[in-house]
Amino acid sequence: MRYTEDIIEEVRSRSDIVDVVSQYVKLQKKGSSYFGLCPFHNEKSPSFSVNRDKQMYYCFGCGAGGDAFAFLMEYENLNFPEAVQHLAQRAGVELPEMEESGEDRRQRDQKSALLGLQKQAAAYYHYQLKQDCGAQAREYLKGRGVSPEIIQQFGLGYAEKSGGGLYRYLKGKGYTDELLHESGLFQMDERRGMYDKFWNRVIFPITDVKNRVIGFGGRVMGDGKPKYLNSPETKIFDKSRNLYGLSRARASRKKEILICEGYMDVIAMHQAGFTNAVASLGTALTAGHASLLGRYTDEVLMLYDSDGAGVKAALRGIPLLRAAGIRAKVVDLKPYKDPDEFIKALGPEAFQERLARAQNSFLFQIRMLEAEYDLDDPQGKTDFYRAVAERLLGFTQDLERENYIEAIARQYGLPKEQLHKMVNSLALTGAGMRRQQERREIQGPENAAKKKQDTENARERAQKLMLAWMVDQPEIFGKISGYLKPEDFTTPLYRRAAKILYEQQEKEGAFTPVRVWEAFEDEEERRKMASLLNGDLPAGLDRGEGKALTDILLRILEDSLQEQRKNLKPGDIRGLQENMEKEIGLKKLKMDRGQLHISFE
Ligand code: GTP
Ligand code: MN
Repeated sequence: MRYTEDIIEEVRSRSDIVDVVSQYVKLQKKGSSYFGLCPFHNEKSPSFSVNRDKQMYYCFGCGAGGDAFAFLMEYENLNFPEAVQHLAQRAGVELPEMEESGEDRRQRDQKSALLGLQKQAAAYYHYQLKQDCGAQAREYLKGRGVSPEIIQQFGLGYAEKSGGGLYRYLKGKGYTDELLHESGLFQMDERRGMYDKFWNRVIFPITDVKNRVIGFGGRVMGDGKPKYLNSPETKIFDKSRNLYGLSRARASRKKEILICEGYMDVIAMHQAGFTNAVASLGTALTAGHASLLGRYTDEVLMLYDSDGAGVKAALRGIPLLRAAGIRAKVVDLKPYKDPDEFIKALGPEAFQERLARAQNSFLFQIRMLEAEYDLDDPQGKTDFYRAVAERLLGFTQDLERENYIEAIARQYGLPKEQLHKMVNSLALTGAGMRRQQERREIQGPENAAKKKQDTENARERAQKLMLAWMVDQPEIFGKISGYLKPEDFTTPLYRRAAKILYEQQEKEGAFTPVRVWEAFEDEEERRKMASLLNGDLPAGLDRGEGKALTDILLRILEDSLQEQRKNLKPGDIRGLQENMEKEIGLKKLKMDRGQLHISFE
């Protein structure tokens, strides 16, 4: 589905990016840009910039960048038309009906029909819970201490025994068998036809962040098997990107989010006032969950079952959270199995105390590591410290590493200097370096950006620099454009950018950076463009002046010449002549730089 270019332009021109971003990020003016803490990665000092002239945002830390639409898409998890609608409404622009392809419309209609169906099903289950047939389920929930208010808030329900009620109900509402099948709420049987998936179970509706029902979990009342049945994934239900309770938790206005394993745990915590609790949906925590959480918080407390499986789940989840820029802590619930049991036994105050004593995830990892070694054996002990030192190497910031060395030394009654020495000597060995590299890979944007910079070869870098300088100081364009043509940019990405920039100058006499960015659709290409257009250059190269500019110009021309020669077809006499002329010209330029008539001083 599409809006016309005109209407998108209209919405864009009436939505100032500084105003838009200010609604989400606290910005401060610094020079010609505004700066704030990046909402897309975790940072302590602001590297997120918003530029009114360019109408773009860009993070010098993680490389996130784009226009106002892109910001909303990323921040609010919208698709492009939704972002257009959002900004149009804000700016008071009336939108025409969308031009939409048949397939797009079919998909959209099916999704919204599925959402409608799930909502009807939730209402049906909830209603059953209140009927005579729901008596046993009401008793069950009461027995587990679930209050009527919470039943209401979470829309809990009951699927009755016969196993055909929901099917009849939804058929009565006019839903087709095809859609009912897509909903995941029914099973097929040759003899019986379609019948309800859930029967004689307490029902937990699962909602997305916008509080729309997307699936269900159903618990058997008592000890039957399986204990829980969950909706399968459907076009609207992706288990790796949704968390039970998140629509409520995100509105809780608490600093951190509590993550646990069970539906009942979420319910028990919310009832006890811990309204920031969520659960993964019967699956292990995924990177998708982590990035979803990262949108709402930078600190997560993990409340996993205190058995072996729970510890494993926590250990697997920690690096994922960390990679999403989230600080993770682990809460010890012993001797109780899960939050629900803990709160039942000791009450909310004791629970709050446990939360306050949550252990830093790194120290938790080390504590779990300890169990793998025999600390009574000298060799075991040495191996353990070595493993600890290796992990300490993963911290790239000195201060942070220092703090952890101190904490661990204290915990294990080890002289700090000794641990220090071990870390340092390990850093010099191959094993240490490898480990460090692995760590860096999951540790974050800072290093990722640096790595990217390293791999950009010199040729590309020269072209990027030249374009970045032009955008930053348009007067450079006037001085350079006589010597340098878009075709001279040998990297396809930059050649395309140059073409657009040159065209803009010709037609409009000015650059509009955001329209260059917009011309690229691939995500990686867009990142590179955002970086270029926002002048994200290696330190020391931030202005195109005098010698530097001349050097870069000559370098690009030389590369262009070489590339052209490489592509010459045998027998292309004219091409060869042209190439030789170019070469002579370039030689002249080089010999007498004065000929360039470029004066920058
Ligand atoms: P209660 O016994 O009701 O307190 O369950 P719980 O919420 O403590 O759940 P438990 O710790 O046993 O399991 C955690 C989560 O794993 C549940 O909330 C379900 O999402 C999922 N789960 C548990 N048992 C099953 C099962 O038999 N099948 C499936 N598919 N998922 C399950
Ligand atoms: Mn439980």
